[in-house]
Amino acid sequence: MADTIETYGNAAPASAKQPGFGDAASRLDGRLKVTGGARYASDLHGPSTTHAYLRTSAIAKGRITAIDETAARQVPGVLDILTYRNVGDRVKTGKTFADKGYMGSTIAPLASGQVWHHGQIVALVVADTFEAAREAAFKLRIDYAAEAPTATFDSPGADRVDAVKAAQKEDTTPTVGDATAALAQAAVSIDAEYETPTQHHNAIELFTTAAAWDGDRLTVWEPSQNMYGFRFGIADQLGLDPANVRVISPFVGGAFGARGSLTQRTALVVLAAHRVGRPVRLETTRAQGFTIGTYRAETRHRIRLGADKDGKLQALIHDGLEVTSRPDDYKVGGTEASTRLYACPNIASSVQIVHADRNTPGFMRSPPEVPYLFALESAMDELAVKLNMDPVELRRINDTGTEPVKGLPYTSRKLMACFDEASRAFGWSQRDPRPGSMREGDWLVGWGCATTFYPTNMAPAAARVRMTPDGAVKIETAAHEIGTGVTTALALTAVGRLGVELTHVRVELGDSALPPAPVAGGSNSTASICTVVDKACREIVERIARAATSAKEGVFAGADPSSLRLEAGALRGPGNANEDLKTAMQRTTQGAIEAYAENVPHGVKPEAIGALYQGHSQPAGGAKLPDRIQFSFGAQFVEVRVNALTREIRAPRLVGAYAAGKIVNMKAAKNQFMGGQIWGVSSALHEETEMDGRTARYMNDELGEYYIPVSADVGTVTTIMLPEEDRQINDLGIKGIGELGNVGLNAAVANAVYHATGVRVRKLPIRLENLLSASV
Ligand code: MOS
Repeated sequence: MADTIETYGNAAPASAKQPGFGDAASRLDGRLKVTGGARYASDLHGPSTTHAYLRTSAIAKGRITAIDETAARQVPGVLDILTYRNVGDRVKTGKTFADKGYMGSTIAPLASGQVWHHGQIVALVVADTFEAAREAAFKLRIDYAAEAPTATFDSPGADRVDAVKAAQKEDTTPTVGDATAALAQAAVSIDAEYETPTQHHNAIELFTTAAAWDGDRLTVWEPSQNMYGFRFGIADQLGLDPANVRVISPFVGGAFGARGSLTQRTALVVLAAHRVGRPVRLETTRAQGFTIGTYRAETRHRIRLGADKDGKLQALIHDGLEVTSRPDDYKVGGTEASTRLYACPNIASSVQIVHADRNTPGFMRSPPEVPYLFALESAMDELAVKLNMDPVELRRINDTGTEPVKGLPYTSRKLMACFDEASRAFGWSQRDPRPGSMREGDWLVGWGCATTFYPTNMAPAAARVRMTPDGAVKIETAAHEIGTGVTTALALTAVGRLGVELTHVRVELGDSALPPAPVAGGSNSTASICTVVDKACREIVERIARAATSAKEGVFAGADPSSLRLEAGALRGPGNANEDLKTAMQRTTQGAIEAYAENVPHGVKPEAIGALYQGHSQPAGGAKLPDRIQFSFGAQFVEVRVNALTREIRAPRLVGAYAAGKIVNMKAAKNQFMGGQIWGVSSALHEETEMDGRTARYMNDELGEYYIPVSADVGTVTTIMLPEEDRQINDLGIKGIGELGNVGLNAAVANAVYHATGVRVRKLPIRLENLLSASV
């Protein structure tokens, strides 16, 4: 696999010196990970642990009528069997994340004999060995009274309700002007429907949980993006004192949104450990992961665009339709974003949900923007075709510095600079716009592009930093290493402020006993946590500087403390004045300096720190601020090749340019963007959880048939990071990159497929059978 990196401004240092803030640094935890030394939550458990295995429901709707445990109880080593008959109200359901709670779903699996969806937990068996627990789970006899389930949109029994009214929440469907009238008068218009499929995260690390009691004190090991949320959620469900609950998740083997909210399995494992009086470890199967956690539900969209003959948008109407579970009103709801991207005087939007007999959906990487921008950015391409206009120029004509709904200014917006950089690197000027015109032998070549943008969120955070006179630094915060490289980003922040070497920084995270960090969601971690780590580091610098300037002797005696900084292992001032770190620090203390810091970002109330200490993250940003709007931007370009004979579709070349604020670690950021770009292709051509509409069961619930790209599916990936520092958002200029890389890429692929073949595919994933009708 070839890849290229182009960097501007803050490129990696040419010398062998250790990397600093904004350079390209190898991950501090990289060696541990590639040598197998890293310990994930799934590797950890209490002493002499017992093993749990889940039995899940064979029906999607109905009731359990009988449970016969006789054969299961006879399996040697079986210790306990939890069903609704002995759990019931011992476990509180808890509120969902959307309802200011901690849970991904209010479906309480062992509260009663009711079955809400296929694959719901109906029993948890504990035994001395994994094998015994599994055998006993299969030997449980469970009888059901089944009813015909509602699987998805058009299934019998599907309702259709307004998502805002259903959830009784603030209106998240922006409207301005009279879009219907403007659409009717527009010189050129588009009215099209788009669909995205069900998708599951399929992280490598399975949905494991281990729990151990020590008297009143409980330790839970579980892959998590939300240490404090899990801690308080578990305490809430079981009526425990949160002070006695500790959650540990040092590394996470893939999160993608699946570990942000607490699933109902965790409290059951904790309860089981209490009942058997020994630690319990649950390992679920990959198939069970499809139904006991959350997922990205299928969506439908109707987009109507009206433009004048020069391409200026006059009307934009985005109506979304989504699937959720029977009891929960979860919606992903992306019109808040899709209505903010382009200048347009008349906008309307709506989101409706359909309740089906399914597990409750939830966050999956760039939750709303992936489906909602697929629709919008496909429609923009259709509009460009209809206007006979280059699709990049259509974006330029509709570019804006203020969002069109409330007229709020963007803190920074380099959308067209991204298009210009990416189109140059891609060679877009060589494109012949006629569909099917760029054939090479048996391959129809198609070039497509689309916009990506993602809200810049920041949340309250806390951290502790400790430095010793030998230049060793320890950072402590309950952040989450979900593979993004936050460990190294936090260390680089300390390097930048304290002038120490990167390998002398130790970062401790993934433990709810540390100061609280927000949920690792909404791409907020780097901006939120680097900011608070920097704040703690500044306090350390100030303390050292004050001691030096208030001393009777020394090079800085009597100097202004704000003129001093720590750099390259020394306290430095104007000119060449400097003093080594050890001397400077000895003036303040005999040992270490430790600083604790909290940060509350713009748009968040000060009380939010208290809420953070209760496991509630309160991120702010995107289109939710009263005075401004903050997003990261990018341009996605794709080359597809469609075989003229077989219609096989390939995406051998991806070029993306992104402006996402200050990049803390160029190397990890490139990895993150590349992964996002590849995931975008996956979302367009590979991934779909297929469902049997009669039984409301997922059919391809294993990696053999749930398609994701392998190396042979990936060609050249070019990632361009534009220099940008947005100091309105934070002092370090950081925005956030985690979810930007895969948004819009699905549309760019579909637009490229249209260019290659003349066939507009409006439903993902695009398969070769969609292209059999092509006339080229
Ligand atoms: Mo991400 S889907 O916000 O964890």
